[in-house]
Amino acid sequence: MSTDKYYVTYNSIHKAVKDLSVQVIESGFDPDVIVAIGSGGFIPARIMKTFINRPIFAVGISYYGVDNQHMEVPQKIQWIDEVEQKLTGKKILLIDEVDDTRATLSYCVKELLRHNPEEVAVLVIHNKLKAKDAEFPEEVKRYFPAREIDDRWIKYPWDAEDIEAHDQCEKDMKEND
Ligand code: G4P
Ligand code: MG
Repeated sequence: MSTDKYYVTYNSIHKAVKDLSVQVIESGFDPDVIVAIGSGGFIPARIMKTFINRPIFAVGISYYGVDNQHMEVPQKIQWIDEVEQKLTGKKILLIDEVDDTRATLSYCVKELLRHNPEEVAVLVIHNKLKAKDAEFPEEVKRYFPAREIDDRWIKYPWDAEDIEAHDQCEKDMKEND
């Protein structure tokens, strides 16, 4: 079994989101809406709704072209045009699974800020400790990463073709730690 990859099970993600929900509430942030960045943010956002019951808006942003190379800037694949005005004055909890280069996340925050929300807080399951390609706008005052990890490739359960083997990999990884 390779240890260069970092395996995460649905259960671990569920527990991480639950812990984050406590941090969000204890910080005094009471979001009006959740915005999920697809596709990686969808499942974490849905789990969060169990603990912080707010409507979820989905956005799709891609930083990769067909050849899997970074494009110059992230591109909107899907946006929340019909509800954009509903973001004005609102407190937004923006959720994604991973903060890697931060390019997609910071682009998304900037786009949301155009609609004059009261606040945008960012929440991720994993933050990779590495030099980032972009920084969050200074308007981001609250950032909730569940786990800070080194720059390894994270294997998420929704990508697993064999979920039992995937779960075993997380177990092996933890035992070898
Ligand atoms: P960031 O702002 O969140 O750091 O995103 P960045 O543009 O750097 O990430 C580009 C894509 O690479 C994102 O997917 C992100 O989820 C994915 N990614 C980065 N690191 C990892 C990793 O360690 N494991 C996995 N599985 N994915 C990673 P995307 O284009 O948004 O696609 P989707 O998978 O969310 O649909
Ligand atoms: Mg993603």
